[in-house]
Amino acid sequence: MKDKKMDKNVVIKIGGSLLFTEDKEIDAVKIQNFCRIFQKIKYSGNLIIVCGGGKVAREYINAVRSFRKNEALCDIFGIELSRINAKLLISAFQDFAYPVVPKSIEELSIAMLFGKFIIMGGLQPGQSTTSVSLEVAEFTSAEELVILTDVEGIYDKDPKRFDDAKLLKNLTYNELQEIIINSTGTKQAAAGEYRIFDAVSLQILKRSKLNIRVMSGKNLKEFEKYWKGEEDITCTTITE
Ligand code: UTP
Repeated sequence: MKDKKMDKNVVIKIGGSLLFTEDKEIDAVKIQNFCRIFQKIKYSGNLIIVCGGGKVAREYINAVRSFRKNEALCDIFGIELSRINAKLLISAFQDFAYPVVPKSIEELSIAMLFGKFIIMGGLQPGQSTTSVSLEVAEFTSAEELVILTDVEGIYDKDPKRFDDAKLLKNLTYNELQEIIINSTGTKQAAAGEYRIFDAVSLQILKRSKLNIRVMSGKNLKEFEKYWKGEEDITCTTITE
């Protein structure tokens, strides 16, 4: 398979849980394997990676929630933890990465002047890092946004609870909206509880008209295929 020369603007969202083992230890080997995928292929477009908070962020959020009834404060902890995860990735990417985590779209636009991979976390309370990745993709006119999560894409029902959940290979914005409305529980808007695709993300998606792929970042096999330009990838593609 011939490597695809990448000169597109791509935004990648990596769920924070993908950086840790089941025992909540940092998965250094996996992080290095993730970096190697990018280092193997010459890439000349803008690449921005948005890190999530993962399980550790959720532990902080749960503790803060037990002290204070303040969801915005919980969100702030989630943002801080996602930025720590971004710093961790920056250290693994070494010279390939811009050394500072942008904390706003303005700081991102300055970082983009340096032509390096940019790695960031959350921006402001009340949303998920998926929403951040959509805002960033919109701002940078990204050709594609890839969301790496711990399942193979978006399913007709929660694959962690239902064995017969079916992976949906292609979704339109309207179909995605139906799924979000049907699966929205009361906890959806609580800190740490934003699902793969939340309501804020849907609103940004609709106005930005982005192309999205949701795929597994668990063993990175599918992602590596995608990055090489292969077509046959297990994922959900979301288009208008
Ligand atoms: P995420 O819930 O987006 O992390 O951010 P995640 O790693 O993708 O989750 P996994 O991997 O699917 O488990 C962590 C928390 O940080 C806050 C929210 O509370 C969010 O749930 N956050 C993040 C914000 O409030 N604003 C942001 O811009 C980003």
